Amino acid sequence: MIGIYLSGTGNTKHCVEKLVSLLDESSTCVPLEYPQIIHVIEKQDIIVLGYPTQFSNAPFMVRDFIKKNGSLWKGKKVFCVSTMGLFSGDGTGCTARILKKYGAEILGGLQIKMPDSVCDSKLLKKGLEENRQIVKNADKRMEEVAERIGWGDYPRDGLSFFAHLKGLLGQRLWFYRKTMGYTDKLKISDACIGCGLCSKECPMENIRMNDRRAVPGNRCTMCYRCISLCPQKAITLLGDRVTEQCRYEKYK
Ligand SMILES: Cc1cc2nc3c(=O)[nH]c(=O)nc-3n(C[C@H](O)[C@H](O)[C@H](O)COP(=O)(O)O)c2cc1C
Ligand code: SF4
Ligand code: SF4
Repeated sequence: MIGIYLSGTGNTKHCVEKLVSLLDESSTCVPLEYPQIIHVIEKQDIIVLGYPTQFSNAPFMVRDFIKKNGSLWKGKKVFCVSTMGLFSGDGTGCTARILKKYGAEILGGLQIKMPDSVCDSKLLKKGLEENRQIVKNADKRMEEVAERIGWGDYPRDGLSFFAHLKGLLGQRLWFYRKTMGYTDKLKISDACIGCGLCSKECPMENIRMNDRRAVPGNRCTMCYRCISLCPQKAITLLGDRVTEQCRYEKYK
């Protein structure tokens, strides 16, 4: 078994690592941007795939990765995990349907509530204590789920036809343009001091350094990692001001 994930602010990384360690403590987890990821997946039969829900869809990078490596999935057993701030509908179904087309067997799905990661919007923001409680609840749920899986009973969050309709009509259709590709809308203000952290951490290599200034490209997958880490709060995407830098580490 292997856990693979995309994680912007650390929520999904935590959930995949925790679940995989509960299911098989000898298994490891790697991020999707890991250079040898294809080689790692090729060697495994069972894969736990995790990502944050974005507008009731999977991040474009995740869908792109699955499609670009279509031959990788034949015969693999995949358990899909999507983390969310509030509502996901069929967050897991969004990748499960594509994986199935490429011959994967879907073992099940888990949609799990975590703190909201959109650092430049006040919407859905909770206090520190409430976020800590959300993380505790998520941990408890994963413990229960791991026990169930041990008996061969996989949860199927987000995989039903009804969930598909909920995700599609609840959000995805209305925000389809936001998730149909990579975005060029990342903004970096004059507050940038050229530390290079965003450029080093971006899973898409979408930020380059030029003359001690960070310059965004047009392949952002909206993970919010750079926005949550910038020491100057100089980076924004959906909003115009960083209100809170959300990071899993603050809530554990
Ligand atoms: C661009 C964007 C869109 C999001 N859309 C949703 C959404 O539709 N529903 C939801 O419940 N959470 C949404 N979220 C919140 C994240 O899914 C959630 O906080 C997730 O746990 C972040 O995981 P990460 O830290 O691994 O990136 C969104 C976050 C981002 C950055
Ligand atoms: S992390 Fe912030 S300050 Fe550092 S280079 Fe990037 S934008 Fe500039
Ligand atoms: S530019 Fe920032 S938000 Fe976009 S993919 Fe890179 S780290 Fe994520």
